[in-house]
Amino acid sequence: MTETTTHRSGPDEEAASAMRPILHYTAKDTWLNDPNGLVWYQGLYHLFYQNNPFDNVWGNMSWGHATSSDLLHWTEQPVAIACDEQEDVFSGSIVVDHGNTSGFGTTEDPALVAIYTSAFKEGTAYQGTQAQSLAFSTDAGMTWSKYAGNPVLARGSAHFRDPKVFRYEGSAGSCWIMVAVEAQHQQVVLYRSDNLKDWEYLSTFGPANSSEGEWECPDLFPLPVDGDPDNVKWVMVVNVNPGSVAGGSGGQYFVGHFDGAQFTADRDSLVSPAADGTTDLRRCLWLDWGRDYYAAVSFSNAPENRRIMIGWMNNWDYANSLPTSPWRSGMSLAREVELATVDGLPRLVQRPVLPLDSGEPARVLQDVELHDSGVQLPDAMDGSAQLIEAEILPGTARTVAFRLLAASDGSAATVLSFDAVTSQLTLDRRNSGNTSFHEKFASAESAPVKLDDGVLRLRVIVDQSVEAFAQGGSVVLSDLVFPLSGSLGTELRAEGGTAMLRKLVVRNLEVTDVH
Ligand code: FRU
Repeated sequence: MTETTTHRSGPDEEAASAMRPILHYTAKDTWLNDPNGLVWYQGLYHLFYQNNPFDNVWGNMSWGHATSSDLLHWTEQPVAIACDEQEDVFSGSIVVDHGNTSGFGTTEDPALVAIYTSAFKEGTAYQGTQAQSLAFSTDAGMTWSKYAGNPVLARGSAHFRDPKVFRYEGSAGSCWIMVAVEAQHQQVVLYRSDNLKDWEYLSTFGPANSSEGEWECPDLFPLPVDGDPDNVKWVMVVNVNPGSVAGGSGGQYFVGHFDGAQFTADRDSLVSPAADGTTDLRRCLWLDWGRDYYAAVSFSNAPENRRIMIGWMNNWDYANSLPTSPWRSGMSLAREVELATVDGLPRLVQRPVLPLDSGEPARVLQDVELHDSGVQLPDAMDGSAQLIEAEILPGTARTVAFRLLAASDGSAATVLSFDAVTSQLTLDRRNSGNTSFHEKFASAESAPVKLDDGVLRLRVIVDQSVEAFAQGGSVVLSDLVFPLSGSLGTELRAEGGTAMLRKLVVRNLEVTDVH
């Protein structure tokens, strides 16, 4: 976390872009950052998050709370774990303590146990340090008590934080594993425990790949490759700030092996630094190539062993300056992640969780030639998000470009374009509307995309942001945008030749947060 200049939005900025997203979770009238303690329990997804209960800028860090049965309709709940005179409550995770190993619940009615970072305040016994603490809930996550024996794991470090705990069952036995960071050493530290209270050091991973900034919010989980239960790999997620491929905050990952004590990244996940010590960030593995997907972690206890992640849709480069009020900041859509063979290697593919029944499409097109003149698509609609699914053969065109949230006079738009010469997908928000609230906001990000048999496959969600999932979700680009009011135009065109639009479906998605 880095603090930047902070201010509440003024009326002009609100007029320019005060729209709340429809599908993305935002708190009613406060600030949020990292998703915390993502857990599914008794039919509900719980989204806890870094929250300032008193303001819409970072501070007074506590765990806010929202619940949902479908990851789309969220109900904001009271603050779950609050800061106090001793500590700020930084990021962490939640487990369902099925075996009542902690003694906080019973075996019949297990407690939910939160493992969070205590950022100790001046004048307290642990002042100047960050250490790991517990809180527990015996009413299915609705109310929480801090454990009297906190902290449970301290190492005298000022930057030891963001514990993600999971149950390990494997060749090395059965126990709780914690991954946390020594943020300024670019290291993930691993610990084990039988009861969530006593922790024993196991190993360290890192530095590796993007290691210029702080390492934050790690995660470690197994996934079958291409659904094969006999070929399970482990994924280590390490969020970095700064040091992302798009600049500022972002999430990198490694694919490898975990033996119950140590994570070893596969060689093809690792990028060796050049002779001058720099690392080519474009060769590292990224959860997202855009500017606004950070602190991403996965749910514990998700049904059917699904691996579902949510990220904070923001970037510490400008986080406290977003021109919204009274809330500031939101979450990404939930993404189901799997490991699939991509170009011969196991890589994450991500699929956004979307409403199942979204009614009749606003437009379906098939086998349409695309030229310079472009095809007008249905406008985005105030009050709904837009979903665009397309299969395009770039053919002889140099670029194929969507203009999204375009002003009616054509003066502004967010442009998502594929360059067939460089094979790059670019999301360009430099002229997307209100970009002036922070000098680092106007930006264009690119990701390498390989066509599948000459076909570009896109799934794009437009909702005060653009999240573009390409080639079945093996490449994702996500950026916030703040279009000026009335900028709803949508267009697709080919430049420098002719492309073929094999199929396109545009839908309006309507889901509202429940506060
Ligand atoms: C990541 C982060 C975490 C920390 C939290 C504080 O965005 O800096 O490392 O626990 O935010 O709000």
